[in-house]
Amino acid sequence: MQDVLRRKLWAVGGGKGGVGKSVFTSLLASRLAGLGARVVLVDADLGGANLHILFGIRYPLYTLGDFITRQVENLEDVLLPTPIENLRLLCGADDILGIANPKFAQKIRLLGHLRRLSADIILLDLGAGTSYTTMDFFLYAGGKIVVMTPQVTSIQNAYGFIKSCLQRKMVRTFATDPDALELINGAVGSQKNEKTEFMGELKKAFRQLGPEQSAKLAGCFEEMKASIVVNMVRDKKEQDVGRIVQEVSRKYLDLSLECMGFINYDPQLDRSINNMVEFLKKSGGQSMGMEIYDIAAKVLRRSRPDNPADQDAAIATARKSLQQAYAAVRI
Ligand SMILES: Nc1ncnc2c1ncn2[C@@H]1O[C@H](COP(=O)(O)OP(=O)(O)OP(=O)(O)O)[C@@H](O)[C@H]1O
Ligand SMILES: [Mg+2]
Repeated sequence: MQDVLRRKLWAVGGGKGGVGKSVFTSLLASRLAGLGARVVLVDADLGGANLHILFGIRYPLYTLGDFITRQVENLEDVLLPTPIENLRLLCGADDILGIANPKFAQKIRLLGHLRRLSADIILLDLGAGTSYTTMDFFLYAGGKIVVMTPQVTSIQNAYGFIKSCLQRKMVRTFATDPDALELINGAVGSQKNEKTEFMGELKKAFRQLGPEQSAKLAGCFEEMKASIVVNMVRDKKEQDVGRIVQEVSRKYLDLSLECMGFINYDPQLDRSINNMVEFLKKSGGQSMGMEIYDIAAKVLRRSRPDNPADQDAAIATARKSLQQAYAAVRI
């Protein structure tokens, strides 16, 4: 049962603020909705919520805060419709009553309600930084996307975010195993300079602990296989900077990541950020590139592997109509 939610739950994170996590998640949500998936977009930036502004909503009627503080009992009642068909929005909360750091029981209640939502895909737009709540949402989601820009600071933060999440995953997995914890903290928790053989050494040391621990550790790495998206790409060279994070993660964390695609920088979007719906309706976001379709297609395939033929047909049709729209614009 838990796997059903995890499969349809995608978290979009990345250490740095302002790299376009919310913009990308909104674009992805509208593309997925356009492909026929019932999508719920959740502003999980608890304490810094602003996703509703991208949708032109100044004062949301309900927010996640109403659910967390039990003003509203059913999560379904907090969802707001958007002008985009198949796409509903769960607005975030301001940091009142400590909502930015919900208690464990509150998080469990939220996940329980997310599971029951009538949606094919649930996208979590996470806040910047590496708060425990942000990392826990990221770790819980079956699909994990890290958004970065070609800037050096963003590249560093993306790697730092991935490393912190992996570390938290391992620490939580072995919370009641002092021998394992000691090894983990020795390898990743210290201030030592990073060495290529860190994770290799850790894995070797775990083999000494026993096959069960070794398998659990391997599971942590398996679950951290995130995908990278590069946003605000301005030229061809910048399309590939995700490879840097991919390479460094492989080298220092023994972790394989996927480069999922890129999104072009679009000055028009920058200008119409107070209402992305209008932007999407007017230009369809075409200037941002076809890649968002490929990314949406990957998300759809992984979330609903039960009927791949239907999805492929829907994706092919949507792609064709977009290509026609492109051709029309060029004429
Ligand atoms: N592809 C793009 N083209 C042009 N401008 C963009 C693009 N993506 C994002 N922006 C600009 O960057 C700004 C920040 O984007 P966004 O709010 O999505 O970042 P964020 O990572 O969610 O930030 P935070 O961590 O504060 O939540 C937007 O307001 C927009 O002006
Ligand atoms: Mg944001």
